[in-house]
Amino acid sequence: MADELRDLVGLTTRYLAQQGELGERELYLTEGNRPRRGVEHQVGAERRLTRLGGRVRSCTRCGLSRTRTQVVFGAGSAEAKLVFVGEAPGRDEDLAGAPFVGAAGRLLTKIIESIGFRRDMVYITNILKCRPPENRNPLPEEIACCCPHLDMQLDIISPLVICTLGTFASQTLLGTTLPISSLRGRVWDCRGTMLVPTYHPAALLRNPGWKRRVWEDVQLLRRVYDDLVAGRIPRGALKAPLTPE
Ligand code: URA
Repeated sequence: MADELRDLVGLTTRYLAQQGELGERELYLTEGNRPRRGVEHQVGAERRLTRLGGRVRSCTRCGLSRTRTQVVFGAGSAEAKLVFVGEAPGRDEDLAGAPFVGAAGRLLTKIIESIGFRRDMVYITNILKCRPPENRNPLPEEIACCCPHLDMQLDIISPLVICTLGTFASQTLLGTTLPISSLRGRVWDCRGTMLVPTYHPAALLRNPGWKRRVWEDVQLLRRVYDDLVAGRIPRGALKAPLTPE
């Protein structure tokens, strides 16, 4: 018990230090692991997200700050109930300062619209906020430096469902090394928020044969979203991965 308490105090101290280092000056009470959605959420989310974006845009926590053109923080509604998380900005995004604006982004827009949403109804961001040179894979230390930004975005937005796009986003948010082929097709718990992984749109452009699987994944995403909105399943109810029949 004493050990558990010491671990808990250690984790809390580290978390608070990290929040302070990132410029966060206010603490928000949460129900479960993510803040509760309510009037105060709606009023504050936009303002807090804008403030966080301002701080992240001057981030120098890792070497990517020296090679990026600009930070790609995220785009969409601070009140979105659905958040898409990709890997990292590519060349087009680095130049535009917005996520998923190139060929993969155009396909993502079609995927979003195929399940009845528009891009401005959801929130889109990435694990890394800066482009890795030559679009190489994110390094573990870059992910470690950048993840607190994503954690704070998710805390502020407090979505009902997260859809991870591809291996890096899915493995990072689920804390696993399982391949995307094993992760997709199921609903997972991400610290109290339901998470549906699917293939990255860039991978889908290279492998058009995966279209059917992505279609099934986003149908699952829409069902989970509808069930949560209608209260047919409570938030945070998932104790084990859910495989649709
Ligand atoms: N690929 C990503 O993972 N994110 C983007 O923003 C663009 C391409």
